Amino acid sequence: DWTMPNYIDEAVARIREQVGEEEVILGLSGGVDSSVAAALLHRAIGEQLTCVFVDNGLLRLHEAEQVMQTFADNLGVKVIHVDASDEFLKHLAGVTDPEAKRKIIGREFVEVFQQESAKLPQARWLAQGTIYPDVIESAGSKTKKAHTIKSHHNVGGLPDTLHLKLLEPLRELFKDEVRELGVALGLPREMVYRHPFPGPGLGVRILGEVKKEYADLLRRADAIFIEELHASGWYEKTSQAFVVFLPVKSVGVMGDGRTYEWVVALRAVQTQDFMTAHWAELPHALLGKVSNRIINEVRGINRVVYDVSGKPPATIEWE
Ligand code: XMP
Repeated sequence: DWTMPNYIDEAVARIREQVGEEEVILGLSGGVDSSVAAALLHRAIGEQLTCVFVDNGLLRLHEAEQVMQTFADNLGVKVIHVDASDEFLKHLAGVTDPEAKRKIIGREFVEVFQQESAKLPQARWLAQGTIYPDVIESAGSKTKKAHTIKSHHNVGGLPDTLHLKLLEPLRELFKDEVRELGVALGLPREMVYRHPFPGPGLGVRILGEVKKEYADLLRRADAIFIEELHASGWYEKTSQAFVVFLPVKSVGVMGDGRTYEWVVALRAVQTQDFMTAHWAELPHALLGKVSNRIINEVRGINRVVYDVSGKPPATIEWE
């Protein structure tokens, strides 16, 4: 009889048998898949698991603190928190092409991860949160096109260069099963039911050149949008929602003065498979509230626009 507790017992037994006494490392991103993989592995092998969380400077507001709190503080998972934001931003300086930015972020991640794993020479396994749809995808099927349009950054290449055996405990599961498993393992619902967040993070949501100043403004604006989506019940009704930073200044007024500040765009979509998507018909009152809050609370932004483009022909991300 299939139940989640039975499934967990079986998965734990399988992992223990596979890994034995050996040590495992896992790149924890804060996304659903790597989080659930970490929680499952921790249940199975406890101290034999070390997670590496890389802050690339392109994460959402308080992301690193939340990951450390959930995993290190609450679950007692060993997590190495690497703040590599300066490194990433340094390599991104002056780069405007979206694909070039993706490549740099992907390459830098591999670099940082390798440095960290070199400090754990006893590790024999590299765990990844690969889920069933990823297995199908890399076998080359209908989603192949997405890869040629955008080089989706994943941790591909790591197992080869690290000489580690690959451990993929979620390989047989669909996304909804992964989420259920996460909740059963005690992960917070908000973490397990999060919208997807791309590997290159805010790097592809800051159009053109990435600068720390832009990332800081974008993080704060994005947090306001997400907070208001939760408060209004719209987070669950959308598949993905975020703010995009436009490196464009426009004129505004504040008090007696004229302002000349940045513009951000709100993006919210509804989709089944992310291959096609509709822009979400968010209530005007909600859009107004988000706009007011961003403009009032985030000094440096004086204009907010809403993206009403479907996919196709637009993509979900702006880069
Ligand atoms: P687009 O913009 O192609 O996005 O309509 C479809 C889905 O893919 C995500 N996306 C990425 N995910 N690395 C990722 O890990 C990437 O480079 C990347 N580009 C887009 C996007 O967030 C959406 O969910």
